[in-house]
Amino acid sequence: MKKALITGITGQDGSYLAEFLLNKGYTVYGLTRRTSTVNNERIKQIQDKITLVQGDLLDQSSLSSALTETNPDEVYNLAAQSFVKTSWNQPVLTGEFTALGVTRMLEAIRAFNPKIRFYQASSSEMFGKVTESPQKETTRFYPRSPYGVAKVYGHYITVNYRESYNIYACSGILFNHESPRRGLEFVTRKISNAVARISLGKQDKVELGNMDAQRDWGFAGDYVEAMWLMLQQDNSDDYVVATGETHSVKEFVELAFKTVGITDWEKHVISNKEEYMRPAEVDYLIGDYSKAKKILGWEPKTSFPQLVEMMVKADVALEKEKN
Ligand code: NAP
Ligand code: GDD
Repeated sequence: MKKALITGITGQDGSYLAEFLLNKGYTVYGLTRRTSTVNNERIKQIQDKITLVQGDLLDQSSLSSALTETNPDEVYNLAAQSFVKTSWNQPVLTGEFTALGVTRMLEAIRAFNPKIRFYQASSSEMFGKVTESPQKETTRFYPRSPYGVAKVYGHYITVNYRESYNIYACSGILFNHESPRRGLEFVTRKISNAVARISLGKQDKVELGNMDAQRDWGFAGDYVEAMWLMLQQDNSDDYVVATGETHSVKEFVELAFKTVGITDWEKHVISNKEEYMRPAEVDYLIGDYSKAKKILGWEPKTSFPQLVEMMVKADVALEKEKN
């Protein structure tokens, strides 16, 4: 039975990955940082099946202790300050978590057991102001946010530890992936939550920023399988994980309102609100996942309309429960 340690287990992807690995028969450990109130909402359904160990990507010795305590075969480094907008307010902290945190974990692995297989959560945000479309593993990085810059560091330090120490280290360049467990500040969940509330008469309007931005949106539940597949190969490598389709924020909004039967959606939406605009925007992302398809045999299963419908329906159910 294999053992996996997941950093960021309380996050969206961590919760789906933990469920996925439990189904594969893994013993699953999750690294969590200390919080004043318990923050295990996304993993409450599996809490008796996993073991949590305390640690923080800012604290080297806590990472070493986590490895000693759990002795994993695989480490999935999903923890990060993951909200792009916040990275302009907290650029140094974002660099500490999202960039240097990767080196801290790799150093802990190198010292404890360099045979541990390592997955790094890289991001399509690294392509930023894109230099070609669709974006693939060889596309030049041009990050547009402190978060994107930090992820480029995390990506290259992963490649470097593979090349320097022969550690089996993979970087998954994942395009945006969403789910009903997405944080409320990200645009898809913000929309699905607002649309649900508007349909139930609890809210009248939603304020958004740039509705022309285009993203390659997939379902998080599909993407965690690709993470696992990357660690099951003969050789470690880097892979783009995407759907190969792009849609605008506006399209997401239209489809979300359609799901609840609202066609005159414009009267419920205020766009270009200054507080949701970014100092530098990523206008257009679309991924080419042909390498993942060819080598890992991975493909996305959930379409864009299915994703939007899943998120809106989940939020409608959640909002009804609150009544
Ligand atoms: P998320 O929901 O924001 O979860 C982030 C996780 O990181 C949370 O569990 C958080 O813990 C933890 N964390 C943050 N700082 C930490 C620290 N200093 N020490 C230990 N844990 C810390 O993010 P996600 O959407 O699941 O994304 C997972 C990873 O994939 C992230 O690295 C993200 O940047 C990357 N990524 C995401 C996407 C996407 O579209 N979702 C695409 C590409 C890459 P708390 O619960 O305590 O806050
Ligand atoms: N959050 C947010 N809120 N974004 C908005 C809003 C709004 O009110 N209005 C428009 N947008 C636009 C943003 O300007 C951006 O162009 C797009 O919607 C998506 O924003 P987010 O959902 O915040 O995601 P992101 O693309 O910036 O970052 C996500 O994907 C990355 C992969 O490309 C995060 O999950 C990152 O962690 C991940 O690496």
